[in-house]
Amino acid sequence: MESLPTVGSRAVDRHLLVVFGATGDLYRQKLAPALYHLVRQYGLVDRCVILGASRSALSDQEFRARSRDAIEKASPGQMLLDAPGAGAAEWCDAVIHYHQLGTDGYDGLRRRIEAVERDHGLSGNRIFYLSLPPRAFGATVRGLGAAGLAAGEGWSRLVVEKPFGVDLESAVALNSILHETFDESRIYRIDHYLGKATVQNLLVFRFANPLFESVWNRDRISNVQITVAEDVGIGSRAGYYDRSGALRDMVQNHLTQVLSLVAMEPPVSFDAEAIRDEKVKVLQSIRTLTPDDVVLGQYVAGRIDGRRVRGYREEPGVGEESATASYAALRVFVDSWRWHGVPFYLRTGKRLATRLTQVAVTFREPPVPLFKSFDRSRHQGNVLFVRLQPHEGFELLFDVQVPSDHPELATKPLSFAYEEAFGDLPDAYETLLYDVMCGDRTLFVRSDEVEQARRLYTPLLEAGLGPASYRAGSWGPREADALLSSRGDSWRVRLPNGGDTA
Ligand code: BG6
Repeated sequence: MESLPTVGSRAVDRHLLVVFGATGDLYRQKLAPALYHLVRQYGLVDRCVILGASRSALSDQEFRARSRDAIEKASPGQMLLDAPGAGAAEWCDAVIHYHQLGTDGYDGLRRRIEAVERDHGLSGNRIFYLSLPPRAFGATVRGLGAAGLAAGEGWSRLVVEKPFGVDLESAVALNSILHETFDESRIYRIDHYLGKATVQNLLVFRFANPLFESVWNRDRISNVQITVAEDVGIGSRAGYYDRSGALRDMVQNHLTQVLSLVAMEPPVSFDAEAIRDEKVKVLQSIRTLTPDDVVLGQYVAGRIDGRRVRGYREEPGVGEESATASYAALRVFVDSWRWHGVPFYLRTGKRLATRLTQVAVTFREPPVPLFKSFDRSRHQGNVLFVRLQPHEGFELLFDVQVPSDHPELATKPLSFAYEEAFGDLPDAYETLLYDVMCGDRTLFVRSDEVEQARRLYTPLLEAGLGPASYRAGSWGPREADALLSSRGDSWRVRLPNGGDTA
């Protein structure tokens, strides 16, 4: 196997990246721009050769033109900033190819792959990226296996997009089909939240800073909240979304990943398996969820940013009677020594008041209320808001005495902003693609992790719960407040203007 010198800070072998579903939205919106940014950033020009594959009849030239347009659209003006040998047009012509999957099936694909590898002097290292509807995963992987494509002279890796099965049964079945051809160490299941720098930083924040880790437990923390709010609706994705709903689309993957990073124990090392072992343990410790732990919602027409937006059932492709939830709020208990009795509140929804992803960690009040005679109307207590997006960074709220003629406490923030410290953050797909190229599985979801997450939400998915209504532009159905209020808690997020809202 050919191994070339370090690129960026890690080694990338020369390889062929085969993208199935290359005429789809994901390639256009995410993969092509991310690949080009990687080329520019790490000088990967000759390391990664791309072969787009799909059923559409396109020539190499047409596919290159599409790739160029996608890059230009994602980063206007970048194509003009030619780094030596890495201008987008030049790069597309040099390394991008296209193969129409036709009647000659996977044998035809094998011949094409071998021809491209020969032309570029590659030695058989391959990444197969399934940017496909999930129903096509199984047949594609079996086709690769039958054509001998997964066992060439170099390494071969399989990248699988979500959704990974719709429930436990289908996730287990899919895992076993993938394992017929690729062993687990060669499979990269994508959850793009893990590619976000701020989500990865949860581990550094916790385990590099003993200051926080020493209070990261049931003795000091009263509740943890994870909010993933979106102001967009379902766009043109009704075909997919109306069958999935918020629990499958967001909770069982993205929110559950964030939850496991917030709640996990320190791994024995910063190694993919050690980290993933600890994440799985969190999922195993979660108390069985019941319908009382969840509130589902569906948006009705409302206003966002002064603009009227339609309700979920009026979205194109959604039936008038649809009972699909576009919002879900949950109360979760992690029954471990560290977290016993601490509620984790999770919520996500479409067409909410604004777009933000935050973790709010509320610390307990002091054991003795020394300042009870002070004016506490401006006091909010110690809360750590980790802003995963946008305005990436964190704010730690703490109390100070207000200099005034009467004793008064007010809560003020200590804050950190990524943008101020480091400028723009990389797109999640850049990080994830680069990790696949380097063979680092840390930020990918392991088979037992995916199955455990499916197992967790099965009782809720099978309970046939109906959604409450919420107005587009609000923070979700009022019913979701009751999940917290029984314990005296309320929803918290930190808005850019410093406001803290329920
Ligand atoms: C996707 C969901 O996985 O994540 C979408 O299918 C959702 O419904 C998206 O909009 C949110 O991702 P981000 O990165 O914009 O928070």
